[in-house]
Amino acid sequence: MFPSVDVFATSLGLQEEDVRKKTVVVIDVLRASSTIVTALHNGVKAVIPVEDMEAASKIAQNLDSTRYLLCGEKDGVKIQGYHLGNSPFEYDEKKVKGKIIIFNTTNGTKAITRSSGADRLIIGSFLNLGSVVESLKADSNEILLVCAGWKNRFSLEDTLCAGNIIFELTDGKLPEGASDGSLAAFSLYASYRNRLEEMIHSSNHAMRLRNLNGDEDLTYCSQVSILDVLPVYSQGMITNSK
Ligand code: MLT
Repeated sequence: MFPSVDVFATSLGLQEEDVRKKTVVVIDVLRASSTIVTALHNGVKAVIPVEDMEAASKIAQNLDSTRYLLCGEKDGVKIQGYHLGNSPFEYDEKKVKGKIIIFNTTNGTKAITRSSGADRLIIGSFLNLGSVVESLKADSNEILLVCAGWKNRFSLEDTLCAGNIIFELTDGKLPEGASDGSLAAFSLYASYRNRLEEMIHSSNHAMRLRNLNGDEDLTYCSQVSILDVLPVYSQGMITNSK
């Protein structure tokens, strides 16, 4: 049976009651979710998502400096003084294995902290879509897909990913009575699923990133179900529950 699924196009205004008792999937395809999935795949012990630089410094002060890396971006650019930015390619095994990542990004980590009152909180991307769908299929909670968006605006790539998750949960046939959010995301994905990579490359944030870093991250983050990783948030930390 199709569980109750809804979609938030951004995390703006997300309230505690919106997530309470639900399973929430936070989606930031470009690039916070994709980077978290990659980092965990490459042996990161835990990711601590934070809302801003102040929160990141506070946590860092209480940890042994050999144990953590301070990571993240502002407006797509690595924050000055941080060890790593937000390109998944920076998180290779040699640099990150066994480390705790304190992670601060423009939209993605805010969407995660705003969703932290959920019964279960999962981080989703195209890269780990299969693992997310498998976990949701075994879950009896109501589901909320929270797209990170960009500064309170709609992001094409995040809603496409939400639509792909719904498409897989429903075997491509959305039942009657689905929420408006599910219908919109499902329809967007159904219209473009044969041109997914092209659509991601044409999104507004892809253009921003292309100017900063080229196309490499966009192509990488467009790959579907290549990593068997299920990042789950609990008590302030994201770990791989696979
Ligand atoms: C974010 O959190 O807004 C993004 O991941 C930005 C980025 O592409 O670095």
